[in-house]
Amino acid sequence: MSFFGSSLLPPPTRELDSLLEAFGGLLDKSCPVRPKHRAAIPAGVRQLSAYLTTDRDEMPRDYMSRPDLLNAYLRWFLPWNLYRQGRLLQGLDLDIPAGSRIVDLGAGPMTFLLSLWMSRPHLRERALEYIALDRAEPALQAGRNLFSGLTGPEKSPWTVRTERAMAGHGRLPRADLLVAANFLNELESSVRTRRRGLPESGEPDEDPGGGGLERVLLNRWEKQVTATGALLLIEPGTRPAGRQLSRIREAAIDRGWTAAAPCPHAADCPLPGTSGGAWCHFTFATDRAPRWLEYLARKVRLPKERTSLAFLLLTRPKSPIKIRPTPVTKPGEGVALVVSEPFDLPDQKRGRYGCSEKGMVLLEGKPGDGVEGPHPGERLVVRWPDQERRDLKSGALILSRSVPPTNPSGPPSRGRK
Ligand SMILES: C[S@@+](CC[C@H](N)C(=O)[O-])C[C@H]1O[C@@H](n2cnc3c(N)ncnc32)[C@H](O)[C@@H]1O
Repeated sequence: MSFFGSSLLPPPTRELDSLLEAFGGLLDKSCPVRPKHRAAIPAGVRQLSAYLTTDRDEMPRDYMSRPDLLNAYLRWFLPWNLYRQGRLLQGLDLDIPAGSRIVDLGAGPMTFLLSLWMSRPHLRERALEYIALDRAEPALQAGRNLFSGLTGPEKSPWTVRTERAMAGHGRLPRADLLVAANFLNELESSVRTRRRGLPESGEPDEDPGGGGLERVLLNRWEKQVTATGALLLIEPGTRPAGRQLSRIREAAIDRGWTAAAPCPHAADCPLPGTSGGAWCHFTFATDRAPRWLEYLARKVRLPKERTSLAFLLLTRPKSPIKIRPTPVTKPGEGVALVVSEPFDLPDQKRGRYGCSEKGMVLLEGKPGDGVEGPHPGERLVVRWPDQERRDLKSGALILSRSVPPTNPSGPPSRGRK
């Protein structure tokens, strides 16, 4: 093996696996659907899927308040988001100190709260405060029901509050960790709607220094996040989302934030997704998704072999919110973060792209060299070559091995399958 890494998106642990598997039953118990509405779920899923992807401009603003679309969200998008976010929070090894307040913008059915509880068991005994903000009360209510079903009758030390509010309006609760998951793309689409002269949906519209939506959002978030706080943005793995996160990263670094993850460096983003170029996102297999969700995927005729996300964790100096540290390197070494699936290269070689302080890298090897091994989201320690070779197509620095880890920490237990 020539490539060794530790993943930011590892397969679910045995416990996360079984909680996701049990989530179908929890949904039926906590958010029951009348039999006459059950048959409409597949059509609702297909409709909402179109709204959230290709037909975004047609999406009704109150989709999370309409029973058919909310049901579709709860039974399809929510569990997929739990699968993605659960893997991410586990891979980040996210640690939040007791007494912290988490504010979730566009929380919907409190997806982040549910993911955090499922994937970070060591936090369950800590006193954490969580505030969910959303314009759709029915989604928040569903989240409250699901969370109390998940934690069971024992009183959780987590304080959970919900506020029905439009983002960008009213008071801004202070946050040690501000979260926005699958939310920025909705603000983007409402900006487009407003430009077309249609009613706006409450997104911020002040842009004092110019510089677009990203700077407006950062201005607001900077007031909201405490001096040692952090900001976690999670979006679908699409090019527009990757571009937007890259722009936010750049503006935030200029203002003194640290791009703690996924970035292995603070240099310019080599994957800004501009001019048709590569963008930062991570795809992974769905083979560890719960069986009931695989069954539903076949039923709604939306089979999924891969899923993806883009994310950005920004921290302020001395933040007590911790994640798995970037691997330690020696002089002459650096960290490369794998960002692509493997692809064919000339001479029967295979390659994967990665991100590093030296820009994009191409991890290249012959089948059997282990280049198939490191998946998107894995961080590898690499030795910079004495003689640089560059990929003609992308200009990426070519690397043909990584440094074996000094204290290997195995992947979490793989559970079923
Ligand atoms: C795609 S859902 C994401 C829900 C959840 N964060 C997740 O990851 O599953 C987007 C949520 O943002 C809410 N939302 C969209 N625009 C909003 C706004 N301007 N103010 C408040 N909430 C908004 C919607 O009601 C919806 O619940």
